[in-house]
Order: sequence, then C-alpha cells, then structure tokens
Amino acid sequence: MNEIYRFESVKKYYLASRRGLLEMALRKKPVYVHALEDFSFSLETGKVTAMVGESGSGKTTIGKIMATIENPTSGSVYFKGTKVSSKDYPRIRKDLSMVFQNPATSLNPRMRISELMSEPLGNFDKDKVEESLQSVGLSFDEVRNKQPKELSGGQIQRIAIARALVKHPDLIILDEPTSALDESMQAQILNILIDIQEQFHLTYIFITHNISVAKYLADTISVLYAGKLVENGPAQKILSAPQHPYTQLLIKSVPTVSSREISAPTGDVPSLINPPTGCRFHTRCPFVMEKCRQEEPPLVVRDEVEVACWLDA
Ligand SMILES: Nc1ncnc2c1ncn2[C@@H]1O[C@H](COP(=O)(O)OP(=O)(O)O)[C@@H](O)[C@H]1O
Ligand code: SF4
Ligand SMILES: [Mg+2]
Repeated sequence: MNEIYRFESVKKYYLASRRGLLEMALRKKPVYVHALEDFSFSLETGKVTAMVGESGSGKTTIGKIMATIENPTSGSVYFKGTKVSSKDYPRIRKDLSMVFQNPATSLNPRMRISELMSEPLGNFDKDKVEESLQSVGLSFDEVRNKQPKELSGGQIQRIAIARALVKHPDLIILDEPTSALDESMQAQILNILIDIQEQFHLTYIFITHNISVAKYLADTISVLYAGKLVENGPAQKILSAPQHPYTQLLIKSVPTVSSREISAPTGDVPSLINPPTGCRFHTRCPFVMEKCRQEEPPLVVRDEVEVACWLDA
C-alpha cells in the first residue's frame, strides 16, 4: 500500500492546565489530558479517509500532528516512508495544507483575497491564484479586492479551500470543513471537495463528527473514541455493517429529515484525564461484559476491518 502518513503507537498528552507558581512550589504532579493513546494508522495516498468521532475524541489532534502544528508525546510518525523529526517540518509543510472548521476566524479579516491567496505561495502568482479560485467556482476578478467580511460563510470556505490548493499540495487536512455551514452550502462544498480531489489527485483526511458526511466522499473510515482508534477500514463495509458498538450508535444517531440535530449516543464522553480502565467505551456500551471493564480490547482485523471490541472475539 502506498501511504503518505503512518503513525505507530502515537500518544499525545496535553498539560490539563498551566501550572501556577504555587503548584510548582508545592511540587504538585502535573495533570495530563490523554488526547491520543497508542494510535497506529496509515493514510493511503490519493484516497479520502474520514476521521470520525464525537467532540473531544482527538480528531483535531491527529490533524495538527499531521500538519506539524503539534509534536507527538511519544511514538513514531512516517511521512512518505521517512521517519519524521522536527527538522523535517518545513519540507513536510510544503506538501500539505489544512482547512479549519471556522474560516471566518482562520482567515485574517483585514487582508484582501488576492493577498490571502498569495500568502501560502510567498509571492503573487496570478495563474496559480486564478486556477485555484476557478476550481472552487469563484472568479478572480470578482473577489480579488474583497475582504473576508464582505463574503458569505460559504464563499469564505471556498476561499479557504482555494488557499489550501494554491501551492499544489499532496495532502489536504480538512478539519470539519462543512460543520459551520447550512445544509445546502454543505452539499456544495462537499461537491467542490470531491471534484478537486479527483482533478488534482489529492489525499484527504476529512475530520468530521458526522458519519453521514463521510459517506459522500470517504474511501476509508476511521472511528475514534476518547483518544483510541476503535474501528478502521473500507467506508462501504463500515457504513453497511459496522462492527464496533460505538460505530453502530454513531450510524443510528445520524440526523433524519425530521430531526436535524445529531443525537449522540447516550451518556457522557469519559474524562481523558482519568480514562476508563479496559475498553474506554464500557461506561456507555449497551453490550458491556465484565471483561470489558478490566482488559483493553486489541485492534484485530475482521472481514477487512480493524475493530477493537471483545464481542465475537
Ligand atoms: N492545547 C490543548 N491543551 C490541553 N488540552 C487540549 C489541547 N488541545 C486539545 N485538548 C484536549 O484534548 C482532547 C482532544 O481534543 P481534540 O483533538 O481537539 O478533539 P476533537 O477534534 O475530536 O474534538 C480534548 O479533551 C481537548 O480538550
Ligand atoms: S469491548 Fe465491551 S464495552 Fe467495549 S465496545 Fe466491545 S462490548 Fe462494548
Ligand atoms: Mg476538533
């Protein structure tokens, strides 16, 4: 398999809060958020992988490690087959772009579109800027002198995508790129993303809390729960026959026409400061067994899909 990124047993711990002088003087132990735990995964070149999970499951953390915005606490990361260290970050950054959920805050509101589009290139290249804007359905002459505040949410997100595209990256990390938009705008943006992925042979990691969005464009689906990968494999297989109880609940809770809001599986997402023992989903799982509370299920391959669950093990 030709992979652009590979993660091997990656952990990411954040300091839960900044330690004050008093805490340091009292030598209180620092408290960590276990955002990502033993995460092993590969991202296939030229494919769309959807990273799915509720808020707080560690999706953005994975995107930020890929974008070299965060360092892993431990474990190994390989980019195009080579083990990554921080000295490789400038080279890696040339090959990728990231699009955030809320473009209104990720784009400088005082810059003109022509400047915003030139920023990733380091200089103004009219042909490249025009081509990228055209790919997202915008006319260079119409938007070049505008500022983000003069554009609609959907237009701003198109600019953010065009901006991600302008340096011709291999990989685009899309972090909830349609979550802030209304339904019709979401569909338009998804269609644009599908078109440019094919046109420019891009690799996407598409981060979303909504598994139904994944079905439009994902080749592969990876399901995260509380910092752990719980199911990973071909999108068709996972959508038609989810094996992990958490994935089953995510699919059941997808909004219907009459209820637009996603109702998350019942129960609270567990604390990542003191994660549950055994299977992290055991506090909410309808099929919980005694073993689940004690022992952590390993990821095993069943019917071409990796699953971490003691059921049918
Ligand atoms: N800079 C940070 N400092 C402390 N905790 C953080 C930081 N960034 C993320 N976290 C915590 O790490 C966990 C995973 O966050 P994140 O990767 O943003 O999840 P998601 O994108 O799935 O919502 C959450 O509990 C979040 O509060
Ligand atoms: S291991 Fe147990 S608690 Fe975890 S998902 Fe499977 S059945 Fe549920
Ligand atoms: Mg996030």
